[in-house]
Amino acid sequence: MKHRLLELFKNAGGAYLSGGDISKALEVSRTAIWKHIQALKEDGYTFEAIPRRGYRLLSQPDKLSPADILPYLRTRVLGQNIHCFDEVDSTQNVAQRLIRDGAPEGTLVLAERQTAGRGRLGRHWHSPKGKGIYMSLVVKPEIPLHLTPHLTLLAAVALNRAIRKVVPEVHPAIKWPNDLLINGKKISGILLESSAENEQLQYIVTGVGISCNLEQSDYPEELNPKATSLMIESGKRIDRARLIAEFLGQLEELYALYYAQGFSPIRTLWEASAATLGQTVRSSDANGNFEGTAVGLNEWGGLILRMADGTERTIYSADTRN
Ligand code: BTN
Repeated sequence: MKHRLLELFKNAGGAYLSGGDISKALEVSRTAIWKHIQALKEDGYTFEAIPRRGYRLLSQPDKLSPADILPYLRTRVLGQNIHCFDEVDSTQNVAQRLIRDGAPEGTLVLAERQTAGRGRLGRHWHSPKGKGIYMSLVVKPEIPLHLTPHLTLLAAVALNRAIRKVVPEVHPAIKWPNDLLINGKKISGILLESSAENEQLQYIVTGVGISCNLEQSDYPEELNPKATSLMIESGKRIDRARLIAEFLGQLEELYALYYAQGFSPIRTLWEASAATLGQTVRSSDANGNFEGTAVGLNEWGGLILRMADGTERTIYSADTRN
């Protein structure tokens, strides 16, 4: 019914439809129409209602569909197969289910909302409806498992380049290994979940969360001081479809560079955008807490810290605070 009602409004091309006209066309009561209009409002549609004239559709929600993304997409593989959902627990879970059903490389899962979005180190990812990009991409890189950190850093470089291209007003920096920050506040996070057999990667699900069109009031109190969105920082509404397509394009180009020339050019690009280098980084491992100055990446993608006594220590997956 919601769909038929919407179709009616769309066909009206912005003209008013009276309650009587709608109930005749759809053969339902005016009370039922009112209820469906309320439900559409909850989905993000806006209407103008004028007594005795009826309703007019003013705007539709910014809802992602493959048709919005495809016109911007320049990739050969990544994003050639897109699944969009209104609500999922986590796009990571959906992507993993699709892989078990044979999803090919490049399959992209998108959701308007996640009820159990997850971040690194078991954290929750705040995923309010329609405001962010919540996506998981299936990649099947032919590399050994121990080189996965390269891909973590590569994804951060791709995302940083995509954001700078689509939202040139902002200048994000990468916090090791792959958070993107603007003015010290987080705007996106990347989570790689992989499966391997005999040291060989089978697949990676690259999960990306980007805070696009959130307003400050969309954040819970505890996130307010440390999170921001591209809209807050740039003062403009973000075209999510364009940003997704640009990210996939950048990622595919960087994968090609990585396969052709190895980690070295990716490392240079990462270091050029790093917020972490030169900063004091506090970290911890099984032996306790320590801190040092971040000086660069090693060839495996670990972060090299110079300790107060001049020695160097490399961290790979610790929780860093800088
Ligand atoms: C982090 O910063 O800790 C990583 C956050 C990754 C969040 C994204 S949102 C889409 C995908 N689905 C999830 O459940 N998590 C990732």
